[in-house]
Amino acid sequence: MLFCADPLTLSRVDQHFAAQARAVRDAGGTVALIDHDALLAGDAAGAVRRVPRDLGPVWYRGWMVPTGRYGELCAALAARGVAMRVGVADYRAAHELPGWYAAFDGLTPRTVWTPWAPGRAPDVGTVAELVAPLGGGPAVVKDYVKSRKHEWAQACHVPELADPTAVARVVARMVELQGDDLAGGIVVRRFERFAGAEARVWWLDGAPVLTTAHPDTPAETVEPDLAGVAAAVARLGRRFVTTDLVRRDDGAWRVVEAGDAQVSDLPAGVDPARLLDRLR
Ligand SMILES: Nc1ncnc2c1ncn2[C@@H]1O[C@H](COP(=O)(O)OP(=O)(O)OP(=O)(O)O)[C@@H](O)[C@H]1O
Ligand SMILES: [Mg+2]
Repeated sequence: MLFCADPLTLSRVDQHFAAQARAVRDAGGTVALIDHDALLAGDAAGAVRRVPRDLGPVWYRGWMVPTGRYGELCAALAARGVAMRVGVADYRAAHELPGWYAAFDGLTPRTVWTPWAPGRAPDVGTVAELVAPLGGGPAVVKDYVKSRKHEWAQACHVPELADPTAVARVVARMVELQGDDLAGGIVVRRFERFAGAEARVWWLDGAPVLTTAHPDTPAETVEPDLAGVAAAVARLGRRFVTTDLVRRDDGAWRVVEAGDAQVSDLPAGVDPARLLDRLR
């Protein structure tokens, strides 16, 4: 198992992942560390310097990595004889909305997207064209990976799609606030009325191996109905993914988002062995 090192003491596991690394070691597994800061700075070779050569196939548990940097991580490890169990194509498919959306069509809010580079605001015409297939009503804006949900009114929620100037303002603010971290492009999703907390379901080789709370609401555990979701996860066809599920106000279980489970956060209070033992 690869974990992120503590940025100040690279020989130690980042405190955020310490309990998970302990669970691996307690079970007789091997822990190796990468320097996440070095990886994000473009020094993949430096980032994997402490990974033993010819370690064998590895899973990663750590902070999110932009897809391009993830590819560099795979290559740097391969040069040391170490294979990531999740290659860059599999990572992209689970981590970025355009990669997983089709598999969850009908189970997740209707969505449009366009590739977009950081630093430049789209004009009103571009945004109007992008959102036209969604029709009217409220919407939510994010990039291929993350939203600005904590700046809900200014950079995430769109009250009315039929007002392109207002939509463009929210999109522009999202792009501005994401800065150089803007992942992939612009995503706009129809708003649905959700009720109650999200559940995070962890899937390994198509099986739901663990259901936890969402990290934002660690005390609220819910047991979602997985009937339709299992088929969607099978369609996605990636080994280790998460799905965040929530009940809509009409009672239907909806997929808020999918993700690569290597970089999905485990909520506080969950015994990490429940996840790590399954990976082992
Ligand atoms: N289509 C939607 N309709 C209604 N609410 C939504 C919709 N999409 C997202 N939300 C709300 O916004 C929140 C953030 O959205 P989302 O999970 O997609 O972004 P995120 O930034 O990746 O969040 P995180 O990674 O922290 O789960 C959701 O938890 C949900 O409450
Ligand atoms: Mg989310």
